[in-house]
Amino acid sequence: MEPVPPPKTYRVKSFGCQMNVYDGERMAELLSAQGINPAPEGENADLVVLNTCHIRERAAEKVYSDIGRIVKDWGRDDGSSPLIAVAGCVAQAEGEEIMTRAPAVRMVVGPQAYHRLPGMIAEAVAGKRAVDTDMPAQTKFDALPARRKVGPTAFLTVQEGCDKFCTYCVVPYTRGAEISRPYADLVAEARRLVDAGALEITLLGQNVNAWSGEDARGRAVGLDGLIRELAEIPGLARIRYTTSHPNDMTEGLIAAHAEVEKLMPFLHLPVQAGSDRVLKAMNRSHTRDSYLRILERVRAIRPDIALSGDFIVGFPGETEEEFAETLSLIDAVGYAQCFSFKYSPRPGTPAAAMDGQVPPQVMDERLQRLQAALQRSSLAFNQTSVGRTCQVLIERKGRLPGQWLGKSPWLQSVHFEGEVAIGDLVTVELLEAGPNSLHARLLHAAHA
Ligand code: 5AD
Ligand code: SF4
Repeated sequence: MEPVPPPKTYRVKSFGCQMNVYDGERMAELLSAQGINPAPEGENADLVVLNTCHIRERAAEKVYSDIGRIVKDWGRDDGSSPLIAVAGCVAQAEGEEIMTRAPAVRMVVGPQAYHRLPGMIAEAVAGKRAVDTDMPAQTKFDALPARRKVGPTAFLTVQEGCDKFCTYCVVPYTRGAEISRPYADLVAEARRLVDAGALEITLLGQNVNAWSGEDARGRAVGLDGLIRELAEIPGLARIRYTTSHPNDMTEGLIAAHAEVEKLMPFLHLPVQAGSDRVLKAMNRSHTRDSYLRILERVRAIRPDIALSGDFIVGFPGETEEEFAETLSLIDAVGYAQCFSFKYSPRPGTPAAAMDGQVPPQVMDERLQRLQAALQRSSLAFNQTSVGRTCQVLIERKGRLPGQWLGKSPWLQSVHFEGEVAIGDLVTVELLEAGPNSLHARLLHAAHA
């Protein structure tokens, strides 16, 4: 490829999960530390990083339409082209092949290798193509610059990868085996986030509750131990964590929900399906009952907890009766909010080769019924909050003039009017509920 001038501006576009959002922020920090500036809104960037998602086919295909659009929008008639880097899980899964299908791409960098972007950019500028999908044992986190200014809510990746091998899922292949970042590094990064303005930290991991480490005294600790330590950081008001696996839901973590005030009453615990036969075929290693028993234990010590989950409809072989078991599970649990997906066969996963692939119309129809049930569940949950007084952390302005938007402890979106600012932790009374948000009245605007 032809050499190009070193990029002056960059844009990082992240798709998919919150871990990608976190990686996208870290890449942006890395590029800024190289003296490359974020491209102003509405202007083409010299360097575009597409931080991709491979979890479902539609997400994975998006990268190619995006590349086409970037090349077209570049619109310079001097024969130049933008520097395009594909990062994230599509990069890990497809590697060099991306460049065959999309020749405009000069760099392909996997989720465990993005700390090496500066070197790759130098190669790309010199006219070479650069591919790095290594999963080095030496963690990328040590090689990244310190966190800069952040908003009132921040993500902190504490754990990566997955050893569970659910039969539909690409994550164990794209993100590799489960690893936990060291305790001391996480405490230090959390402190820096708080110093940079974060009031709320969400601990992230593909299996966040599988996190394990050693505390300052060399004792083995689980995620609950880390949460207890972070709760000691002055200025940090709220702690959340996502995504959890039922098998790693320890007694200690459940207890932390009753004992650690800063730990918010919200639990995202994906179940995927309500039928034991389907769960087994998914290799979930929990049953409908063992899952329900975990939720009972959590509710027993934290009755107001907001529960959340992920669902897949149309897993190979799923019958109408088995799907009905998913619907009845939703009624039994009473979820506050959920994510739901049509099954998408992913190359290389066992489920993609299973008999009984469900026709698209059946999946569409099941997804509609599932989502209707989830909407009813969310509305019912939000209605039980009406009349409560709670704190809301303000994240942004609302759609209407004078309106603000923030999150309740139960992760509900709450909107209200008043003389406040982003980052304020205010007290409101919840007045009216919809399935996706609540309207509230400001009681006091205590500046954080
Ligand atoms: N098809 C549909 N949904 C999937 N998920 C993971 N793999 C697939 C797939 N092949 C969903 C699961 C998981 C969430 C992150 O994405 O529900 O919990
Ligand atoms: Fe995928 Fe299952 Fe691991 Fe979640 S637990 S990342 S669904 S393999």
